[in-house]
Amino acid sequence: MKKISLALLLCFAFITASADEGMWLPNLIGSRIKDMRQKGFRLSAEDIYSINQASMKDAVVLFGSGCTGEYISEEGLLLTNHHCGYGSIQKLSSVEHDYLTYGFWAMSRGEELPVPGLTVRRLVRMEDVTARIEAGEDSEKIIAEVEGGYFASVQPMYYGNQYFLFVYEVFRDVRLVGTPPSSIGKFGGDTDNWIWPRHTGDFSIFRVYADKDNKPADYSKDNKPYRPARHFAISTKGVKEGDFTMIYGFPGNTQEYVISDAVEYVAEVSDPMKIALRTERLDIISAAQEQSPAIRIQYAAKHASIANAWKKWQGEVLGIKRLGTVDKKRAYENEFAEWAADKEEYAHLLDSMKAAYNEVREWYYMGELYAETGKTIELGGIANVMYAAKHRRHENIADNFRKLYVNYNADIDRALAKAVLKGFERYCPAEKFPVALREEINKYGGTIDAYVDYVFDNSNATSFEKAEAATKEQLEADPARRLFEIFTFDKKMYRNLSNAPEIERWYRPYLHALREWDQQRAFYPDANLTLRVAYGSIAGYQYADGEYHNPVSTLDGIIEKDNPAIYDYNIPQVLRDIYARKDYGRWGENINGRYTVPVAFIATNHTSGGNSGSPVINGKGELIGINFDRTWLSTMSDIEFDPTICRNISVDIRYVMFVIDRVGGASYLFDEMKLK
Ligand code: ARG
Ligand code: ASP
Repeated sequence: MKKISLALLLCFAFITASADEGMWLPNLIGSRIKDMRQKGFRLSAEDIYSINQASMKDAVVLFGSGCTGEYISEEGLLLTNHHCGYGSIQKLSSVEHDYLTYGFWAMSRGEELPVPGLTVRRLVRMEDVTARIEAGEDSEKIIAEVEGGYFASVQPMYYGNQYFLFVYEVFRDVRLVGTPPSSIGKFGGDTDNWIWPRHTGDFSIFRVYADKDNKPADYSKDNKPYRPARHFAISTKGVKEGDFTMIYGFPGNTQEYVISDAVEYVAEVSDPMKIALRTERLDIISAAQEQSPAIRIQYAAKHASIANAWKKWQGEVLGIKRLGTVDKKRAYENEFAEWAADKEEYAHLLDSMKAAYNEVREWYYMGELYAETGKTIELGGIANVMYAAKHRRHENIADNFRKLYVNYNADIDRALAKAVLKGFERYCPAEKFPVALREEINKYGGTIDAYVDYVFDNSNATSFEKAEAATKEQLEADPARRLFEIFTFDKKMYRNLSNAPEIERWYRPYLHALREWDQQRAFYPDANLTLRVAYGSIAGYQYADGEYHNPVSTLDGIIEKDNPAIYDYNIPQVLRDIYARKDYGRWGENINGRYTVPVAFIATNHTSGGNSGSPVINGKGELIGINFDRTWLSTMSDIEFDPTICRNISVDIRYVMFVIDRVGGASYLFDEMKLK
């Protein structure tokens, strides 16, 4: 008994406290349902996922390429976040019709705005195909067997200990119905991003259209609103601390089972490098945005997405250090190694993995460095695409490729290219600096600045007109394309640490062994942009010594932050007027002795990037909010989830309704919703 080590104690502590950790596969949710019901869920596993009848999964979609959305009417009305609709809203905006700044509300179906290229994906079914893959069947063959014009993919879970087939229906006619102005939808901007308390009305509304048979179709004015098999009723009853919450969505990527070496690399090497490189890019883009409203719109989405991960990584490093994840994992691995020592098939595993890491790590580092530097020079990619188009004598070169330039500014790209190439040089071990790049620099100017000027002055890809007029040969020899090629010559740089075959082959038996050894731990597969269920409850948390954060924020907090001189906190006048008149309609409520409107809440659900836009569901299966973020102390939860402090942030559905109604004047939309 005395020999129970620190590691095991830590790991018991972890287990007993980890009740709300986990992102569960919906078709296997039966194994969690007892726990869910104890926490307040009233429905059954079949309500969550069923292949025999309509179930909640039919009301949840993958929105675009990395967010979640949910149906809230039987006529295809879809909710997601403002930051998930951002790219689409930006695409539909111009200086004359600036929907990012002023918002947009269709007052009838005819006014809804089609978004070319935007798709949503519904999971038709999923199926365990492990046995078939293990019997040597090809995943391509399994996919090819899927009928009905569906999109299918086979995804590994637990590093290939299990495989699932996912079958999706992909809708291609998606239209913007409404969005608040950014001063509501992005209130707090990058200042408040990843922070609680939060006051962002982070939602936008779309409608999915289908053909006359309710099947996916390209945009056509003859299409009809899609009739989903299920949609969410909206709870107007409100939430309070302790209430059950469930998140149903598409988390993108977690690494909960990686070994200590990998975590150490993230916290000590990778994150710090990426943060520093992005700081420089953000400074350049912000300065340009301050000079011109057109550039502000053009670079809005790029800025937001660069800033988002940049800020998250900063919190992640702090979180990993605060939790001592590296040491904890090391202790856990030592315990495992002791257990594995006399098991032939497992005894070598940790050593093998560590050796594989050492081997792959330097290339992975180069890949990450490249992704944050050379790869971000847009001109290189554009020149290459334009060359490829001419090479293939693409018929529609004009129509298809003009869009590459819509949000492109060659002056900004030039300034960014100088910065990132210098960054590359700074972080690249001298012996790995590509010889060909050194030669180009020496040949054309001698310094990185002079070389970049040479590239931008002589490239035919800096504008659509120039590229279109250039010959195939000219584009082939284009200095920007040359730069692009220099960085792509070494295919090793494209490898990804989490799925490099050298490492993956060890993770597979390692996970197998862990599950055999650590019987107390509730294992769930890492997120991989497949549909998952997370559940927990609305809860505040201890932010710092003597500082407890309440789980609910209100309109009063918005008014406290309001400041016309600060871009991120400058709310629309209409919101000030509504507040002054306390004109909240049916959305007003007494919270902590104040008549106000609820805005956002936090809960203990385990979420990740991709869960943005996910429905937050109460025990009765009704919609109470839209998930959009995590708190500052949660940013490491993709690597270690700490149930005492990790919280997801959601916009309260009543604030969404309030904004539609009072700010947008679009309450006609309520007619098709089920408000409860
Ligand atoms: N942090 C959230 C997520 O990871 C929201 C990001 C969008 N908001 C922003 N201010 N950039 O996507
Ligand atoms: N904001 C994230 C998203 O866009 C969610 C998160 O990382 O918590 O998916």
